[in-house]
Amino acid sequence: MKGLLLAGGHGTRLRPLTYTGNKHMLPIANKPIILYGLEHLRNSGIRDIGIILGPIKEGVKELIGDGSEFGVKVTYIEQGEPKGIAHAVSISKDFVGDEPFVTYLGDNLLKDGIDSLVEDFEKNKPETVIALSKVKNPQRFGVVELRDGEVIKLVEKPKEPKSDLALVGVYLFKPSIFDAIDKIKPSWRNELEITDAIQKLVDSGYKIHAHIVSGWWKDTGRPEDLLEANRLVLTDLEPLNLGEVEEGSVIQGDVQIGRGTIIHSGCCIRGPVVIGENCEIGPKTYIGPYTSIGNSVMIRGGEIEYSIVMSETKIICEKRITDSLISRNVTIVSADDSIPKSQKLIVGDRSSLSL
Ligand code: G1P
Repeated sequence: MKGLLLAGGHGTRLRPLTYTGNKHMLPIANKPIILYGLEHLRNSGIRDIGIILGPIKEGVKELIGDGSEFGVKVTYIEQGEPKGIAHAVSISKDFVGDEPFVTYLGDNLLKDGIDSLVEDFEKNKPETVIALSKVKNPQRFGVVELRDGEVIKLVEKPKEPKSDLALVGVYLFKPSIFDAIDKIKPSWRNELEITDAIQKLVDSGYKIHAHIVSGWWKDTGRPEDLLEANRLVLTDLEPLNLGEVEEGSVIQGDVQIGRGTIIHSGCCIRGPVVIGENCEIGPKTYIGPYTSIGNSVMIRGGEIEYSIVMSETKIICEKRITDSLISRNVTIVSADDSIPKSQKLIVGDRSSLSL
């Protein structure tokens, strides 16, 4: 079985963070999103993986290379302009050949990985396995209607959903999907929808197995999804301190501190929190739950909570920053006495802010 990991697209809903990079490279708990998918594919036994890249390739090839560092063999497939998931699958036909394959949307995170999906496919031998999860807002996803466990209908982003079962971005296909894709037309958003292609398989009488995933699932299309995914991943954080914590600072709960990082006196770090390597935190700084801080970051003063701060950023500020996504190489400074105290920020690469 082969794997296809999709990392194309413009990431428009994540601008400005995606003006300067590929959205699949954004970090969740200090690890690029794309690596979660790559590791899930590998852990399920798949070694031969095609990565689909769109117009924004920055970082992906440098990070993953030929895949050997991650125990897999990677082939890059260029999609050019993104024209939908089904389009990305169709251009991978030569790579896939006659084998069954897993298609994994690289911006999706699943707590429990994909092992049970692959087992389901191998044991029950359906034409396709689709992964589903109950959601509160089905209008945002592909929605599946079941009758007695059988897949009846799939609709992409329905205005009036017939169920609360959303299509998770992991699909197990046989090469029959290529003929189904040939039969579909672009949707209202001018994309070839994989949801429509699977409906063609249903119409042709193929056996489609609906597999409801255990554990949480998160599609990271919007800033608030990234913060929520970060929270979910940090919930399982193992505490580890490879840095230095000066006297007079308090570390509470599950906190990871990277090599070369120093926490100066008078700080309170309340986990779950991950702090990368070579950072300088404090003095007198509060880092609150569900915060991820990348490598070589300096944070002096103030409070930060439920946020993602990426590498090489500098925050010298007496403010309270919450629910924020702050990119790489950003500088934020504030005058001590300026009000209001609280800030909510989404800041792209190499920005400079005075608050
Ligand atoms: C895509 C699929 C949708 C699926 C979702 C999962 O949506 O089209 O059916 O539910 O991924 O992440 P998109 O992210 O392109 O809006």
